Amino acid sequence: MGQGVLTDTRFADAGLARQGGALHLGGVPLSAIAAEVGTPVFVYNAEAIRERYRSLDQALQPLSRRICYAVKANSTLAVLGILRELGAGADIVSGGELARALAAGFAPERIVFSGVGKSDAELRQAVRTGLGHLNVESVEELHRLGRIAEGAGSDVAVGIRVNPDVTTDTHPYISTGKSGIKFGVPVDQVGAAAAFIARHPRLELTTLAMHLGSQLSDVAPFRQGIERLLELAARLRAEGRHPIGVLDIGGGLGIRYGNEPAMDPERFAQAVVPLLAPSGYTVYLEPGRFLVGSAGVLLTEVLYRKHSGGKEFVVVDAGMNDLVRPSHYHAYHEIVELEAGGRPPVRADVVGPVCETGDFLALDRVLPDVVAGDRLAVLGAGAYGFVMASNYNSRPRPAEVVVDGSDWWVARQRESVEDLYRSERMSP
Ligand code: LLP
Repeated sequence: MGQGVLTDTRFADAGLARQGGALHLGGVPLSAIAAEVGTPVFVYNAEAIRERYRSLDQALQPLSRRICYAVKANSTLAVLGILRELGAGADIVSGGELARALAAGFAPERIVFSGVGKSDAELRQAVRTGLGHLNVESVEELHRLGRIAEGAGSDVAVGIRVNPDVTTDTHPYISTGKSGIKFGVPVDQVGAAAAFIARHPRLELTTLAMHLGSQLSDVAPFRQGIERLLELAARLRAEGRHPIGVLDIGGGLGIRYGNEPAMDPERFAQAVVPLLAPSGYTVYLEPGRFLVGSAGVLLTEVLYRKHSGGKEFVVVDAGMNDLVRPSHYHAYHEIVELEAGGRPPVRADVVGPVCETGDFLALDRVLPDVVAGDRLAVLGAGAYGFVMASNYNSRPRPAEVVVDGSDWWVARQRESVEDLYRSERMSP
């Protein structure tokens, strides 16, 4: 399973290679990082992120475009800094992500704010900061935004996130463009929402937006969604009172974790550019996983081997609190040795230390017959990895490291045990 033969796209996209058996990310042997920083640790390859950004940007060259990185995928300042330097904007969904994007140096006008449940405080913060645009997800939110904008005496560029009612082929938890789920304004309410904006002295409808779901490999839903947005935008523009200049087609471009197809930027561009180029709109994209997912690995150490109930277990020091995707979505993540040891294959569950049977990184997986002290890399951990980590079982969250060529640095220190209860009080 990927041992030694690191030629497939998962390894190439990450910038992973073996030199004399030792797994390298970029120019750095991962064992050196594990030895110095300890495990579990997330490691991201800056150059791999840059390559992904450039490949997408290049493929979409015929369009007037802006790639707004979906901060939720990985909001570590060092990662944000890499994308900002490339010219990306930022797509955020909370006041916390706004603060991070600003701290990483994104200009407010290059930030777009999406999300189905923005609080008053978050809306106020957004209005005060003067963002590129704010995607509203319900008519009620729009009314509230209108009151806040008037109160602040600030003009606000608004996008309506439309629910285009498009079916996608992804996990139901991350399918977001279908009627009957919580996201977006239903098509039949868009007219009323736009009319409210047109009447409002402080709001301006600059954008129609959608986000269909995450980890998509099929281009057909994008084409359907874009066609619906174009139709709606044409109808609203014909009214002559909406200066719509941007179509925000969301994120969701899938990557390869196992044997599933990935979204190739060229194939994506071939599907969407012919629809979008003649329209003359500036196109915004909000990719997260596509830019950072493959570029990250989670390093973990084998603590124990165990044989129980006719099964083999590999107990490692990373658990569901560090990387929740396997247990939450039954997501597949490739697992390889840091040092190829030529061990025979074994079929085992790779499990963490957390006190839940659902705490696993892989089930029924064929992997080398590793022993305590061996180190493993869990691939495809750059997106929705650390950001979804928790302190469950009072486990400090892992450190994060960035590799750039042959340099590397600790981008976030491992949490300490004291960090866990620093803000607590035992009595009044
Ligand atoms: N824009 C909006 C409005 C979104 O809700 C999302 C993701 C994105 C952009 C970025 O999607 P991406 O390009 O990364 O697929 N935790 C899940 C994924 C949740 C995605 C939520 N929304 C996972 O680990 O698979």
